[in-house]
Amino acid sequence: MHKSHGPVYYSHYLMLDKLLGAQEPLSRKYASPENPESHEETLFIVVHQAYELWFKQILHDLDSVLVIFNKSVVEDSDFGIIIQRLDRITKIQTMILSYMDILETMSPMDFLEFRSLLVPASGFQSTQFREIEIKLGLNTNNRESIDREFFLGRLTEGDRDRLTQLENAPSLLRLVEKWLERMPFTVSGQFNFWDEYKKSIADFLAEDEATIMSNMAGLSDKDLQGQLENLKITRETFSSLFDVELHQKIIELGQRKLSQKAILNALFILLYRHEPMLTLPQQMITLMMNIDENFTTWRQRHALMAHRMLGTKIGTGGSSGHQYLKRAADSNRVFMDLFNLSTYLLPSSRLPVIPTEVRRQLNFHV
Ligand code: HEM
Repeated sequence: MHKSHGPVYYSHYLMLDKLLGAQEPLSRKYASPENPESHEETLFIVVHQAYELWFKQILHDLDSVLVIFNKSVVEDSDFGIIIQRLDRITKIQTMILSYMDILETMSPMDFLEFRSLLVPASGFQSTQFREIEIKLGLNTNNRESIDREFFLGRLTEGDRDRLTQLENAPSLLRLVEKWLERMPFTVSGQFNFWDEYKKSIADFLAEDEATIMSNMAGLSDKDLQGQLENLKITRETFSSLFDVELHQKIIELGQRKLSQKAILNALFILLYRHEPMLTLPQQMITLMMNIDENFTTWRQRHALMAHRMLGTKIGTGGSSGHQYLKRAADSNRVFMDLFNLSTYLLPSSRLPVIPTEVRRQLNFHV
């Protein structure tokens, strides 16, 4: 119980003086008889401020999840909190996406009334947005940007230093990677799950090949070759999971981020998601994918809004405008490896049977 400090007054507690006194449209400050205040600029400010407030809450929750993952052992009981907070982040993301609808009630002509007053300020300078990206796992080096120096050059020295330092701290991506690498279950005594899994895949793909060959009569040479080529690609995709060198190359090409061990263990979690010990980790993986998907949806929507407002004009921060934002939406993915895991799923009926001793570890006991 906290000690009481006496009566609390609503507007003092919420510091509404500060909060509600923080909207100062530039078009009001520079208003003249020829250029009166733009009515729409208040909306523009309020929507941005509301975004920043919710970014603050996202960071508050994300930071607390990072603290948990930074411990050498993540307790089973921590998972409830991790899931509650990641889930909240997804709910916030869903809500703030709809702010775009409100902002789009301002027409492109209305925006032109005050846009020139904003130069060179830009969303590039939202340090909270960048902080969320960095803490999730998107460094300035591997995110889509005009170029690192240009991007950092948009910031004050203080912001630049703070963000660059944050990039040295472990992100959610890296901490979850370490946690996944530590996960037991897949290799135990005589049992190596991955040997069994490889056998299941080989059988599965052999059946696919048999199906293609049995349909051969109805296929043109070109179609047959095409289907066999697809099968070869599928085989190679599966074997890339187990080929350490190939895995490393794919990482260097920027097409994968997680270590091979982490990817394999994440796959195991998805394959056996109904085992009691894996239910919460599976939920966590799903939430991380939801966060990534919500982020991407926001970026796409924001790019469309920028297109609607600016046409092909460049942004106030000097980017190519909506073209840049569209590219950023495609490539600034944090947890794409988790999405790609679906490539390696097998129907439940084809999954290797787990030995009793491992199954026991995956269940709660009384
Ligand atoms: C009229 C509405 C808006 C327009 C036309 C617009 C346009 C743009 C453009 C063109 C950029 C690229 C950088 C530049 O050259 O300036 C950008 C970046 C950005 N904007 Fe907006 N924006 C709008 C509203 C918003 C809102 C409401 C937010 C909410 C916080 C926001 C957040 C951002 C962020 C975070 C970036 C950096 C994105 C990145 O680099 O991946 N923008 N915006």
